Amino acid sequence: MEKLNAFIEENKDRFIEELFGLIRIPSVSSKSEHKPDMQSATEYIKKSLLEAGADMAEVIPTDGHPVVYAEKIIDPSLPVVMVYGHYDVQPAEPLELWKSPPFEPEIRDGKIWGRGADDDKGQLFMHVKAFEYLVNNDKLPCNVKFMIEGEEEIGSPSLGKFCEANSDKLKCDVILVSDTAMIGRDAPSITTGLRGLSYMEVEVTGPNRDLHSGLYGGAVVNPVNVLAKMIASLTDENNRITIPGFYDDVIEASDEERKGMANAPFDEEQYKKEIDVDNLGGEAGYSTLERTGIRPSLDVNGIWGGYTGEGAKTILPSKAYAKISMRLVPNQDYRKVDEMFKSHFESIAPPGVRVNAKLLHGGQGYVSPIDHPAYRAASKAYEDTFGKKPIPYRSGGSIPIISLFEKILGVKSILMGFGLESDAIHSPNENYPLWNFYKGIETIPLFYKYYAEEMK
Ligand code: BES
Ligand code: MN
Ligand code: MN
Repeated sequence: MEKLNAFIEENKDRFIEELFGLIRIPSVSSKSEHKPDMQSATEYIKKSLLEAGADMAEVIPTDGHPVVYAEKIIDPSLPVVMVYGHYDVQPAEPLELWKSPPFEPEIRDGKIWGRGADDDKGQLFMHVKAFEYLVNNDKLPCNVKFMIEGEEEIGSPSLGKFCEANSDKLKCDVILVSDTAMIGRDAPSITTGLRGLSYMEVEVTGPNRDLHSGLYGGAVVNPVNVLAKMIASLTDENNRITIPGFYDDVIEASDEERKGMANAPFDEEQYKKEIDVDNLGGEAGYSTLERTGIRPSLDVNGIWGGYTGEGAKTILPSKAYAKISMRLVPNQDYRKVDEMFKSHFESIAPPGVRVNAKLLHGGQGYVSPIDHPAYRAASKAYEDTFGKKPIPYRSGGSIPIISLFEKILGVKSILMGFGLESDAIHSPNENYPLWNFYKGIETIPLFYKYYAEEMK
């Protein structure tokens, strides 16, 4: 693969310029004002894929944001790898916390800075460039399809239907995804699990209008006070979730898996230092990696109600709201959890308020086997370029479409992520180290090579 290294060396700056062009398009899927940007991003990726050597590439409309589809079929008798990624990004706010503007990418300290630098524009672009190398050097050992969507960050609401409608076109042997992280730069890992998600929004309604808190305070039930208490009661003193039945479908990880996790080269001190906290907290009896990898969790993502402007305003609010997410382990069903949450939330509401809870989005978790040809191929690829065998590890994040791929297309996904926890995805100052970007481009072609060998 000397040739590959030379190719990367010679084209380094061009790769960055091309990736910057994509990062400059503010394709924020959650905001309707960015609809034209979603279209521009798809056109940009389509063009990149055609220039890289795809036989065909198209932008396909869906009920939501469009999908880019491309393919190169070199020999129908060879296996088909489908690369999945997403071009949509999370909102960049709060903007004032960025050291350089989120959609004006730049390189500082050996890293690419900008929204989407890692998640997932930087990571998906590694695939475009690896593909370019393989095509230009006649080294593509199998067929390749690309499916790049624009709704991942809002729960992929249209993609299931899209897959059902296009199942022939999307036929493949394995789905290759770079949208996860490694344990560390020196600790290559392959993600073998993703958590599911039930994301709820709750509303607590008290009096029909904001009231004078002197005239009414103490006599009328305050929805913000109530919501705070209700939320506090959703977890107990051991940080276990109190919703009846919540743990019924949770499968305990085997001792063997727990032992593997305990041996993972995870640096808890560094983890704390990076987020500037002096202590961690979570479900009693589990380590940090277990709490995010094999256990469910419940978090308030946002809470509001009453007066939040400057200075004081003496009111007893009419309403209180919160967004609450529950991360689920693979055997839990987000629809069941949605139902359990709603009925529990209603049951704990005291007289004097009305509550309403709705699911904003949900998705199932995923576990991928390590005795799969694609896992073995990925493992060999990392071993070659990192000089170390990667360790399988379950991530706390979610990519809801991955379980639907299995259900609808009947195909397993292999999660070859090259990100780092310190890349600050979803946060201000998202970044992606150049080292990781180039390492990805170096590793991906080896995956194809070993996968084709495995499938012979
Ligand atoms: N790429 C992430 C998920 C991820 C990151 C998994 C790092 C493992 C390691 C993805 O873009 C993401 O943010 N997913 C959302 C899903 C949600 C919006 C439905 C998440 O996990 O919050
Ligand atoms: Mn992502
Ligand atoms: Mn994301």
